[in-house]
Amino acid sequence: MTQSKIIIAIDGHSSCGKSTIAKAVAVRFGYVFIDSGAMYRAVTLFALRRNLIKDGVVDEQKLIKLLPEIKIEFRYNPEKQKSDTYLNGENVEDEIRQLPVSQNVSPVATIAEVRAEMVRQQQEMGKNKGIVMDGRDIGTVVFPEAELKLFVTASAEIRAQRRFDELTAKGEAVSYAEILQNVQERDRIDSTREASPLKKAADALVLDNSNMGRDEQLEWVVMLINERLK
Ligand code: CDP
Repeated sequence: MTQSKIIIAIDGHSSCGKSTIAKAVAVRFGYVFIDSGAMYRAVTLFALRRNLIKDGVVDEQKLIKLLPEIKIEFRYNPEKQKSDTYLNGENVEDEIRQLPVSQNVSPVATIAEVRAEMVRQQQEMGKNKGIVMDGRDIGTVVFPEAELKLFVTASAEIRAQRRFDELTAKGEAVSYAEILQNVQERDRIDSTREASPLKKAADALVLDNSNMGRDEQLEWVVMLINERLK
């Protein structure tokens, strides 16, 4: 069947480079790119600021009640040629990538009501297709009908090293050991939670990029997309 625009779902473990692929694909095809993890991160930042998380334990009932007060948007930043995440009108793009949010996001993302609301918003964003979304449950729950599904992975050590390089390049004082521990802990929580755990959709293609360069990986994905657009 000839398609003019498709939906591309990219799922995988934390820090495996999903967003890098998704962003590059969106630029190449003029598609909208949505980082669904940024939405869970924004909810987590909101919860932290309202003191709804103590020692890793989330006050779920209060957070669920406050969900209607959380407005998440993506606005294009022409300087960076990418979208920034806004929480209730404030640009929180940098803050949501920092460790306090990373350390609390997985417990927040286990809450079924939070997920239902995020999924509703994500499906709305994809209703006209021409979208590439990355996350944990995009091919399984958000867009089970996506024309292309990728499941990206790499070893935990390689993923931690990439995240470490990314944060130190921004001048943040972080330790590799702490990041590796966070990556492994999030893998564990994301894969074992009850509500939409991270798992490969039956029809997803696996991309292990442990030993793959960015360009090589992009060309492979572009080829797969072109096949589906034919
Ligand atoms: O950037 P990184 O891959 O490390 O993580 P992320 O995509 O920013 O997602 C942060 C966290 O949000 C994940 O560890 C998951 O707990 C959660 N998440 C989710 O549950 N479902 C999604 N579709 C996306 C993220």
